[in-house]
Amino acid sequence: MIQGILFDVDGVIFDSEPFIKQAYYNYYDSYYHKTITEADMAPYVGTGERVSIKGLGEELGLDYDVERDKKGIYGEYARLIKGKLKCMNGTKRFIENAHKAGLKLALATSADRSKLNSSLNETGLGEAAFDFIVSGDMVTRTKPDGSIYRYAASGLVLENEHCLVIEDALSGHMAAKRAGSPSLGVKSSFEEKEQVLSGADIVLKDLSEFPDFASIEEFNEVYGKLLEDFRKRSLIGELIEKASKVIEHAYAPYSKFKVGAAILTSTGNIYCGCNVENSSFGGTICAERGAAMAAIATEGRSNFTAIAITSFADEPAPPCAICRQFLSEFAGPDMQVYLYSLKNGVYRHYNFGTLMPSVFELK
Ligand code: THU
Repeated sequence: MIQGILFDVDGVIFDSEPFIKQAYYNYYDSYYHKTITEADMAPYVGTGERVSIKGLGEELGLDYDVERDKKGIYGEYARLIKGKLKCMNGTKRFIENAHKAGLKLALATSADRSKLNSSLNETGLGEAAFDFIVSGDMVTRTKPDGSIYRYAASGLVLENEHCLVIEDALSGHMAAKRAGSPSLGVKSSFEEKEQVLSGADIVLKDLSEFPDFASIEEFNEVYGKLLEDFRKRSLIGELIEKASKVIEHAYAPYSKFKVGAAILTSTGNIYCGCNVENSSFGGTICAERGAAMAAIATEGRSNFTAIAITSFADEPAPPCAICRQFLSEFAGPDMQVYLYSLKNGVYRHYNFGTLMPSVFELK
């Protein structure tokens, strides 16, 4: 049950992404005489200035200085937002509902406190609604590392699994998943599919799509329903459906335990597999490796971005250790893993790094 909300700030609370991007463009143009593009900025949305200034500096071969550049960018940001910065659509109402319902609320931004203060001052959004605030200057590693969301949950004295992260950035969804929190995406900066493949459990246009609620129980009811609807109509549902179809071909006369798997690769194609047993038991091949073989046979060396695994177990079956090792050769820690029980509809969502924290590599 969700008891707290961990809000990303830029692109979730404030419609600030266009202003911070413009601040970067202006600063790099005036200080370094360099033209920065939207594509240059894309990998750094949500990561905080320490990461972006270093990354851009190295890419462009600049004599960068994180503190000096940050001051310049934040100064430009404060100037640009004057009289213009707004809260994101639906956010104020959602915060009011959440506060009244008794959910604990935290802000967790990779940016420094000074930028947050500029935005709070400009919009008049009070800090009082929030029980805890973490900014990038309070942590050693910013998103996509999970520490900022672990810190935020501990500030609310809650476990991460009981805190819903609200994010707009791919790095933020990765951070949420690495910290062990579910995450809800809003579409300020990235498309639905990209957010899902970075770990979002659900993506809404903005928080105006979240219905009103008056208690923690009601919040969980509403959220549960939105989650189920989203799963069915999204890429997650498509993968589960494919795995549920291929399970019909599972050959499991000995264990009677049928498994289906559907793997999405970075090319956008989906490959399916089912378990195939053998009277020489050791010859049995799991569904996940069957799907992986189909992908590799078609694409050659593939990059797996998501996998759905279906079974009829009460607790949906995760990949066995051999399959985890096998998959790790073709998947990074941010591959999404969706498990689904066809017996009772129980659904679990992990990132692969949680299931396979240490990979064997022959070096
Ligand atoms: N099985 C899979 O297909 N995937 C796994 O990750 C775990 C196990 C199959 C193998 C065997 O046919 C049956 O489940 C019982 O172990």
